[in-house]
Amino acid sequence: MTFAEQLQADIGRIESALERSLSRETGEGYDRIFEAVKYSAMAGGKRLRPVIVLAFCRLCGGDEEKALPFACALEMIHTYSLIHDDLPCMDNDDLRRGRPTCHRAFDEATAVLAGDGLLTAAFETAAAAEGLSAQTVLQCIRILGRAAGMNGMIGGQVLDMGAEHRRIPLEELRLLQSLKTGCLLRAACELGCAASEKADAAMVAAAQIYGEKLGLAFQIRDDILDIEGDAATLGKTIGKDEKNEKSTFPSLLGLEKCRALVAELTDAAVQSLAGAADKAFLTELAYSLVGRMN
Ligand code: IPE
Ligand code: IPE
Ligand code: MG
Ligand code: MG
Ligand code: MG
Repeated sequence: MTFAEQLQADIGRIESALERSLSRETGEGYDRIFEAVKYSAMAGGKRLRPVIVLAFCRLCGGDEEKALPFACALEMIHTYSLIHDDLPCMDNDDLRRGRPTCHRAFDEATAVLAGDGLLTAAFETAAAAEGLSAQTVLQCIRILGRAAGMNGMIGGQVLDMGAEHRRIPLEELRLLQSLKTGCLLRAACELGCAASEKADAAMVAAAQIYGEKLGLAFQIRDDILDIEGDAATLGKTIGKDEKNEKSTFPSLLGLEKCRALVAELTDAAVQSLAGAADKAFLTELAYSLVGRMN
C-alpha cells in the first residue's frame, strides 16, 4: 500500500467509526445536539490525530481495530476544542472546516453544549474499547484526560487567551504552543503505543518526542497559514491572529525563521523514530505537513 492509500484507508475507518459513535438520535426532542455535533465532527477535518493513533499502533505491531475507539475519542476532543475555540468569547471565528462555525450555524448555547457533548462522548467511547486489558483501557483514558485537561490543551488555551494584546517572551510562547497543540498530538502517539500493548519504554519515549516536535511544527505552520494561507483551501478565516493580537511564532520571529523552524522540527520528529522498523508512513506523514496548505 502506498502512503496515500494507507492514509485514505485510515481516514475511512476513522470516519465510519466516528459517525457510528455520534449517531444515537432518539427522536425525543433533543436530536438537535446530535445534528450540531455531527455538523462539526463530520465536516472533513484532516483527521491527523486519529491517523497518528492508528499509525503508532501499527508501528508497534498492535491491532489497529483495538486502537480505533481511542482514535475516535481523541478526534472528538479535538473537534470540541475547535468548537469552543471559535466561540465569540474566544477567537470569535466564522469559518471552520470550510463551513460556518458551529455557533454561527446553530447558536452559541448549542455550540457550547456540542463541545461538552463531544468531550463527554470521547470518554464514553474510550471506556467502551474492547479486546484490551482493563489496565490498558484505563491507561488510555488517563492519557486522554491529561492531554485534554488543565495541564494540557486547556492550560494552553488559557495561556493563549492571556497572551493576547501583548508581546510575550519566546519561552512562554513555546510553553503555550506545546500545551495547546502539542499535548493532543503527543497523546495520539502515546495512545497508539498503549493500545498496541506491545510498546517498550524506549518506543514510548521516541513516540513522545515525535509528537512533541510534530505538534510544535504543526502549530507554527498553522500560524503561518493564518497569515499567508487561502481561506477557501484552509477552510478557516485568514488574518484572525493579527486581528485578535495573538502571540504567535511569526509575530515574534518572522515568517522566514518560522519556515526554517517547521522544517527543523519535522526532521527532529522523524529522527526520533530512527530505531523503529516500518517507520515509512509516519515519516511521510510528518513531511507531508511541512508545506501543508490546509
Ligand atoms: C487546528 O487543527 C487547530 C490546531 C491545533 C492548529 P487541525 O488543523 O488539525 O484541524 P482539522 O482537524 O484539520 O480541522
Ligand atoms: C487552537 O489554536 C488550538 C486548540 C486547542 C483548539 P488556534 O486558535 O490557532 O486554532 P485555529 O487556527 O483557530 O484552528
Ligand atoms: Mg485559539
Ligand atoms: Mg482559533
Ligand atoms: Mg490558528
